[in-house]
Amino acid sequence: MKLKRKAKAAGAGPTPPFRPNEETLPPEVRPGQSVELLKQLHILTRDAKLNQDSRRKLKQVYHLFQFIEGLLQELPPPSADHPAGPLVADHGAGKSYLGFITYDLHLKALGRGTIYGIETRSELVESSRALAQRLGFERMKFLNLSVAESTGLEALPARFDMVTALHACDTATDDAIHFGLQKSARFMVLVPCCQAELAAGLRQNKALQLARTPLAELWRHPLHTRELGSQLTNVLRCLYLESQGYSVTVTELVGWEHSMKNELILARFTGHRKHSAGQRLKALLQEFALEPLLATRYPALAG
Ligand SMILES: C[S@@+](CC[C@H](N)C(=O)[O-])C[C@H]1O[C@@H](n2cnc3c(N)ncnc32)[C@H](O)[C@@H]1O
Repeated sequence: MKLKRKAKAAGAGPTPPFRPNEETLPPEVRPGQSVELLKQLHILTRDAKLNQDSRRKLKQVYHLFQFIEGLLQELPPPSADHPAGPLVADHGAGKSYLGFITYDLHLKALGRGTIYGIETRSELVESSRALAQRLGFERMKFLNLSVAESTGLEALPARFDMVTALHACDTATDDAIHFGLQKSARFMVLVPCCQAELAAGLRQNKALQLARTPLAELWRHPLHTRELGSQLTNVLRCLYLESQGYSVTVTELVGWEHSMKNELILARFTGHRKHSAGQRLKALLQEFALEPLLATRYPALAG
């Protein structure tokens, strides 16, 4: 005990945690933004600095957030039948950095609204819950479920304002679209990941299609099968959304150019169901001999 006290007096005690003030923070950190969150996301170093890599990462996060914020600002004010909005579902949330940034920069000051992170990896759900608790982000919820399971979950609200799915693996983006349709989402913000289901269908019919049409040259080589599969998947997703009353913008997620998967699909509910889009979707499925997908992936157009 004596020894400890002596050491303290000599200034040799444990180093107090570094507490940055507004002036020492990099200019990229916005007023009121949680420094603790940025550290946890490995954007700020432990002594609250930005390095070259994390500066780029923060720029990317802001870029995506800017789309989301613009859409959230379009939402009508709370009403009697929707008092607790905005409600956001982030599918395939991973470490939930998108949800955390959206909460920190928008929902926190707004004082209402909830973000639900849906993720199959339990350790990520646990760590996100712990971080939200530590930061006092009480309107962030995390569910250890698949996107498909969450769609039927009665405990979730019947209506959501926004669905996001950033690099949610394989068909999780399709499940997120299904979720959004079931929940009458006003907006869907989708950055698809690789999708293998459709390429598998193309592969199956390859020999037959090569004999039938020169167009099958587009997916004769395995690499092209994968690429065309991805491209076609996103084209069908857009047509499906349009057929269900959404206007769709497809753009590049600038700043993500190092990633092969930088296609951003923004869907906005207009209520105008484009019949021709549904027809086109069916025609494409037929052309590529992928009709079985109609019932499983585009059920609203089946029957
Ligand atoms: C590539 S990570 C992206 C994470 C995060 N959205 C991001 O952009 O940083 C994909 C995440 O989706 C999760 N995932 C994959 N399929 C899923 C499904 N069907 N339902 C829910 N989560 C899923 C994975 O566990 C993984 O954490």
